[in-house]
Amino acid sequence: MRYDESTIEQVREANDIVDVVGQYVRLTKKGANYFGLCPFHGEKTASFSVSPRKQIYYCFGCGAGGNVISFLMEYENYSFQESLKALADRAHIDLPEPKGGSEDRGAKELKRQLLDIHKDAAMYYYRQLQTPEGAAGYRYFSSQRRLSDATITHFGLGFAPKSADALYRYLKEKGWSDEVISASGLVTIQETKIHDKFWNRVMFPIMDTNSRVIGFGGRVMGDGVPKYLNSPETLIFDKSAHLYGLNFARRSRRKYMLLCEGYMDVIALHQAGFTNAVASLGTAFNEKHARLQKRYTDVVILTQDSDDAGINAKLRAYPILYDAGIQTKVLDMSPYKDPDEFIRAEGPDAYETCIRKAKNAFIFMIEVLKKQYDLSDPAEKTAFYNGVADRLCMFREPLERGNYIDSVSHEFMIPKDELRALVDRRIEERGAGIRYDDMNGRPRMTEGQGRSSQGAYPAMRPAGTGVSDTARPKEVPISVQQNEKLIVSWICERPDLGRYIFQHIRPEDLQTEIYREIASDVREHPNHFDAASFLDRCGEDDEKRKAAAAVFAELDTGTPLDEMSRTDLEKGLTEAVRHVLKANIDTKITNCRDASELGQLLQEKNKLGSFRITIS
Ligand code: CTP
Ligand code: MN
Repeated sequence: MRYDESTIEQVREANDIVDVVGQYVRLTKKGANYFGLCPFHGEKTASFSVSPRKQIYYCFGCGAGGNVISFLMEYENYSFQESLKALADRAHIDLPEPKGGSEDRGAKELKRQLLDIHKDAAMYYYRQLQTPEGAAGYRYFSSQRRLSDATITHFGLGFAPKSADALYRYLKEKGWSDEVISASGLVTIQETKIHDKFWNRVMFPIMDTNSRVIGFGGRVMGDGVPKYLNSPETLIFDKSAHLYGLNFARRSRRKYMLLCEGYMDVIALHQAGFTNAVASLGTAFNEKHARLQKRYTDVVILTQDSDDAGINAKLRAYPILYDAGIQTKVLDMSPYKDPDEFIRAEGPDAYETCIRKAKNAFIFMIEVLKKQYDLSDPAEKTAFYNGVADRLCMFREPLERGNYIDSVSHEFMIPKDELRALVDRRIEERGAGIRYDDMNGRPRMTEGQGRSSQGAYPAMRPAGTGVSDTARPKEVPISVQQNEKLIVSWICERPDLGRYIFQHIRPEDLQTEIYREIASDVREHPNHFDAASFLDRCGEDDEKRKAAAAVFAELDTGTPLDEMSRTDLEKGLTEAVRHVLKANIDTKITNCRDASELGQLLQEKNKLGSFRITIS
C-alpha cells in the first residue's frame, strides 16, 4: 500500500509543523525557529528545535529529527500510514485510495464490513454484562478475576449468553446479511442450522494496533473445556500477525515491553499499571510478532508462565527476538504460575522488583541447560560445556561473542580459556550465527545462510566472512563527514550557492551517502528543494536524523548564513570543499597502482593549494 508523493505532500503542507508539534511540546520562538524541551529524551534545557520555514524538527541533544509525518510516527508510535491518516483527518483531507493496492474492491469492501460487524458484535457482548443473564459473566470478571469496571470497559470485555443464536438475531436486526455474518466466523450457518460460535462464555475482543476489533477469545467461567475458544482466522484476523494488548502497549512510555502468554495476564498487568504488556494469542511467538514489537521497542522482557511450557516458550521466543534486533530479558515469577497470579498475590511493586531483576535471556537459557546435567559426573560436565559452546555460536559479532564468553564463564564457573577454545573451534568449523531453536533442538542457521544440510549441521560459512564483515560500507572519516555536512547545509539553506559549489564538486563526490543524496536533490531542484519532502523519502530513522541535522545548518554553524560576510562565506566554502576534494584524492592515491595515474593525482592534489571559491 503506497500513497503517491503528491498526496503525501498535500497532507504535509496542510499541517504546519509548528502547530502539530505545538500540541505536544511547549514551543518558544527564538529567531527564525522555535525551541522546546525534547519529547524524545529527558532534558532540562531546550535543545529541540522546529523550523517553520523548512517544516522540519531537529534535537541537538539526542539527534531526533524529521518532518511532521515522522514526528507523529515517533511520538505516537504510528506507522507511516497511520501518521498520514491522522494528519489528513486533522486537515479534513479525504485520503484517496492508496495506489498499488493489489486487493480487489470486493475483498476490500468485505474487510470493511467485517470490521464493522465485529464492532457490532463487541458492543453486543459488552452490553450483555449488564443484563440479568450476563450477571454471571460480570461476576466472573469482577469477583473471580478482580477486574475493575474501568478495566472491563477499557478492554471491552463481554459475555456471550446461553443461547443458540442470540448474536445471529442481533446482527440480523442490525441489517447484516448471512453472507457477511458467516464470513465473520462468529456464527455458523449451515442450511437451516444456525448457531453462534460462542456460547455461555466471557468474551475478550481482540483488537489490532489501531484498536479495531478483529476477533474474539471466549473463556468458560469454570473448568469446562476448551478453556478458551478463539475466532477462526478470517480475512481480517491473522493470529500470527497480532499481539493482544499491543494497541495499548504501543503508547506506553516505558522503554521495554512485557511478553506474556494469555489474555488474563495482559489485562491483569495493564490493570496494575504495566500498560506495556502484550501476548501472542494462543499461537507460538513468531518472526512477525517480533517485527511488530520492534516497531515500538528495543527491549522485551519475557514473562510467560513459570511451568515447562512457559520455559519452552521463552527459549523459543529468545532467538526470534534476537534476530529482530531486540534485546531480551527473562523475568522470574516463581513460585507463581503467571503474571496474573503473581500480581494478585504480591502486588505491582513486587512485580516491578522482578522486572528490575530480569535476567539476560542467554544466561537464562544456559541456566535451563545446566539443570539437565549432573555436573559431578565428568562426562556430563563435558557435555554441558560443549552445549554452552554450541549456544555461544549464535553470536556472529566477535565482540559480542567475547562478552558472552566472559560472562558465562564467570557465572557458571567454566574455565574461560577452555570455553573460548571450544567456541573458536566451532566458529572455524561452522561459522557464527548458528543457534538452537530450543534446548534440545537441532541448530539452525539464521537468515541469509545456506540451508542445504549435510549431516547434523547445515552448509557452513567460513568464520569472519559474515555479511556484517564484508558488506558494511567503509567508514567515512569524521572530518570528511563534517565538511560534507557543512557543504550540504549551505546548499540547503542557500540553493543559490549551489551554482558556485557544484562547479567544483559534484554530489557524487561526497562520500557520505545521505549527504550525497541531499546534494543531488538540491542540484536537481535548485529553486525548490524541499527538506520536509526529502525526509519523507529517507528510509531509516538514522538517515532521517542525519539529514535533518544537515538541513538545520544555520543553528549548527553559529552565525546564520544570512549574516555572514561574503568573504567569510567564501572562506568557509573554500575550506570545506577543499577538504572533501583532498580526502577524495587521498583515497585514490592510496588505491592507485599505476605510476602515470599517480603522477596526475599528485598534481591535482598540489593544485588544491590555490583552490578558491568566489561568489560574484
Ligand atoms: N489458549 C487458547 N486456547 C486454549 C487455552 C489457551 O487459545 N484452549 C490461549 C489463550 O490466549 C490464553 C493463553 O493461551 O490466554 C494462555 O493459556 P493459559 O495459560 O491456559 O490461560 P491463562 O491466560 O492463564 O488463563 P486463565 O488465567 O484464565 O486460566
Ligand atoms: Mn492464568
